[in-house]
Amino acid sequence: MTCRILLYSKVGNTLKVGEELAWQLGAQLHEIETPEVEDGFRARLRQKLSSVLSKQPQVYASDQPWASSDLLILGTPATSGRAAEPLRQWLATKPALPERVALLITSDEAQCPKSVIDDMSRLIGRTPVAVLYASKSELATGAWKSRLSPFLDHCVIRHRQSA
Ligand SMILES: Cc1cc2nc3c(=O)[nH]c(=O)nc-3n(C[C@H](O)[C@H](O)[C@H](O)COP(=O)(O)O)c2cc1C
Repeated sequence: MTCRILLYSKVGNTLKVGEELAWQLGAQLHEIETPEVEDGFRARLRQKLSSVLSKQPQVYASDQPWASSDLLILGTPATSGRAAEPLRQWLATKPALPERVALLITSDEAQCPKSVIDDMSRLIGRTPVAVLYASKSELATGAWKSRLSPFLDHCVIRHRQSA
């Protein structure tokens, strides 16, 4: 089973979970990178404007045969109730995706924000095969790891059923 992970992580939380997933699944891990990490309204406005003017997404991701993966796990922090902008921008380039896409979401809330799952489902144009969620407090204690095994089972069982 070829599994790839592509994620965006601003502070490192999503990356931390992604690294564990990569290790458990023997998957390749790729990060979406942004050229600027400036914060604040003016910086965001400047980035948005240059993105609109150049019509080029201001993000970089490794060029991989994503669609030939048996499973692609897309990771994002919740950002204002939806997926992070760099992942949204990458998906806006309409990359060919495999049939089976799972999600990795981190946020500060105790429960996974449904709006982020809905946003991602709409952006990828399919229902995710599984969702792994880790909250900020669970990341601090490692409690999120109790959901790792059911998530992996879900991904693998669904893979066997569709094979
Ligand atoms: C600009 C911004 C917006 C955020 N919006 C939300 C949000 O709507 N809901 C939430 O629970 N957490 C929100 N967070 C918290 C992050 O989702 C959370 O800390 C996440 O684990 C960070 O992941 P990262 O380290 O991979 O970037 C936000 C954080 C930032 C910086």
